[in-house]
Amino acid sequence: MQYQRLGRTGLKVSKVSLGTMAFGRWIGEQEAGQVLDAALDAGINLIDTADVYGRGMDQNNPLLTGESEEILGRLLQGKRDQVVLATKVNGRVGNGVNDAGLSRFHIIRAVENSLRRLQTDHIDLYQVHRFDPQTPLEETLRALDDLVRQGKVRYIGASNFAAWQLAKAHGISDRLQLHRFESIQPEYSILRRDIEQELLPFAEAESVGVIVYSPLGRGLLTGKYRRGEAPPQGSRGAAGEQRLLALLEQERHFHIVEGLKSLAERRGWTLPQLALNWVLSNPVVTSAILGASRPTHVTEAVRYIDERLSAQELEDIDKLVRQAETPLFAK
Ligand SMILES: NC(=O)c1ccc[n+]([C@@H]2O[C@H](COP(=O)([O-])OP(=O)(O)OC[C@H]3O[C@@H](n4cnc5c(N)ncnc54)[C@H](OP(=O)(O)O)[C@@H]3O)[C@@H](O)[C@H]2O)c1
Repeated sequence: MQYQRLGRTGLKVSKVSLGTMAFGRWIGEQEAGQVLDAALDAGINLIDTADVYGRGMDQNNPLLTGESEEILGRLLQGKRDQVVLATKVNGRVGNGVNDAGLSRFHIIRAVENSLRRLQTDHIDLYQVHRFDPQTPLEETLRALDDLVRQGKVRYIGASNFAAWQLAKAHGISDRLQLHRFESIQPEYSILRRDIEQELLPFAEAESVGVIVYSPLGRGLLTGKYRRGEAPPQGSRGAAGEQRLLALLEQERHFHIVEGLKSLAERRGWTLPQLALNWVLSNPVVTSAILGASRPTHVTEAVRYIDERLSAQELEDIDKLVRQAETPLFAK
């Protein structure tokens, strides 16, 4: 496993990190423990969760949140110091008007709840899950800065921010002498490349760490979903993950997956290996957060991460994606 500095900080994180959105949502604690062990054995040191991860995400019930953090808290007993633990705040965790968002009121309550569930006295990377248009960034950044100064949080980051939102936040941190967002967590895969336009150039210019999520397109880039067929049993598609089901409705995605199959075969790789390596081929990406519901998902995906795709292979993938944008496929 290779490790890289998170942006301009001295913190070193693994090129592949483990996402735990499945913990307590699609898999139980025993399977989660096996997935975590496989990740630690592979040298993964960055573990990502969020206060909202849990069954409530599929049932639209904010009271069923926090299971991923709870499971992780138990599983990390005795291993806490081995990992860089990242979690998030902003999602709805209750029915009250202040049970979501990035107000000082909510952040301070949310961090205490995350610390309790994770059974730790500090969070290594505390990320705001998305922009909150109803709270001034000054208020959010001052609250986060307090948490760093209190020792409850080591570094702060942002997720799902546009480049202008991150630039504005950096300007405020700079002006008010507050800790700044040192990382950004956007979605990035062969299927979702919009961050190449603004966010990645910004992150590179400002030395912001880039931790990308859903590198396998939520499972679509593993080839297990087939056009016109019901999702395979036991998959997230079968469990009804809304964002994945939306991806499965687009013909262009199947066109891309089919084209990738022959490229992967030529290398003797599987589709997940190709999809993960493609994300890591972008030098601006610090770490890719892999999702896994079985330990073999981790061992398989990381097998060739020290190898790089050739310029020709990257060009072939670009061509495939461009082709999929034509009106014939872009439905
Ligand atoms: N900041 C945000 O807003 C945000 C949003 C989404 C995710 N995330 C983070 O990113 C992490 C990863 O996201 P993701 O789970 O969508 O990532 P992903 O890596 O694109 O998808 C992972 C899914 O692919 C399937 N898979 C993986 N390896 C496989 C293999 N070898 N064969 C067959 N299927 C395989 C599994 O699906 P099955 O479970 O169906 O087997 C697994 O759950 C999350 O856990 C979370 O920490 C953050």
